Amino acid sequence: MTKLAAVLITGASSGIGRALAEAYAAPGVTLHLGGRHAARLAAAADACRAKGASVTVHMGDVRDAAGQAAWVGAAGHLDLVIANAGAGAGIPDGVPETAAQVRELFAANLDGALNTALPALGLMRRQAPGPDGVRGRIALVASLAAFLPAPGAPTYCAAKAALDAWTVATATPARKQGVILTSVCPGYIRTAMTAENKFPMPGLMEPERAAAIIQRGIQAGRTRVAFPWWVAAAARIGGLLPPRLSGRLLSRAPGKAALPEAE
Ligand SMILES: NC(=O)c1ccc[n+]([C@@H]2O[C@H](COP(=O)([O-])OP(=O)(O)OC[C@H]3O[C@@H](n4cnc5c(N)ncnc54)[C@H](OP(=O)(O)O)[C@@H]3O)[C@@H](O)[C@H]2O)c1
Repeated sequence: MTKLAAVLITGASSGIGRALAEAYAAPGVTLHLGGRHAARLAAAADACRAKGASVTVHMGDVRDAAGQAAWVGAAGHLDLVIANAGAGAGIPDGVPETAAQVRELFAANLDGALNTALPALGLMRRQAPGPDGVRGRIALVASLAAFLPAPGAPTYCAAKAALDAWTVATATPARKQGVILTSVCPGYIRTAMTAENKFPMPGLMEPERAAAIIQRGIQAGRTRVAFPWWVAAAARIGGLLPPRLSGRLLSRAPGKAALPEAE
């Protein structure tokens, strides 16, 4: 595979995004790292520079389509774009989500990822192919939540399901144009997003291990990287149950915390 010398990652200030940034950091690699929290983003950039990478940082909100397009467009040649930023929330008390939370979770998790991936796709189609015929790679971080609509996190599951479906369906035509798309569907990863979860998290994994699995999947040109395999299999089987049965079973566990009121 052609060496990935220029990599852009959203949500690089924390969790999986930061672990991915550090996994790709090496001499000869340029990393473009995005996030909103200045100090955390600077710390991630410093850690990557310490590994020998050249790093630029971009403070921006993935919900800002024009801002994301401008950032991606200004980065120059890109071998890999990872649309990783996302927000998790649900309904801890069994009461349906507020309209504001529904809109916010679709905006951050679905529109936000597409705001990064679509300009990258347009740019990569015009890039010269490497020796392996690949013009560029785009990974979109969905979730195993895409496979199982859980009553405790309706919009999160729906947004990730839409993102996974879009990525997998677009991967075939994109590949014909030399761009490899990968839908990344992790199970539970130990990050700020899962820190407040008050339910068992089978297969909980460290972000560094998740980053290594994601990196291998992207390198192999896989259309979907879903892990751990046994949690993915359980989510798939759960998704095949009649909805009222899966709803009853899943609603026994507490839901994810809601977004703060102001949002
Ligand atoms: N942790 C899990 O178990 C798990 C499982 C499956 C999928 N995922 C997915 O993995 C991705 C990373 O999550 P994580 O677990 O690493 O969570 P995290 O530690 O909370 O990190 C989330 C990252 O996304 C950024 N972000 C959130 N909203 C943003 C916005 N509107 N604009 C720009 N950046 C934004 C955050 O940036 P700032 O902090 O700088 O604002 C942060 O860097 C998400 O898409 C998540 O849905 C996570």
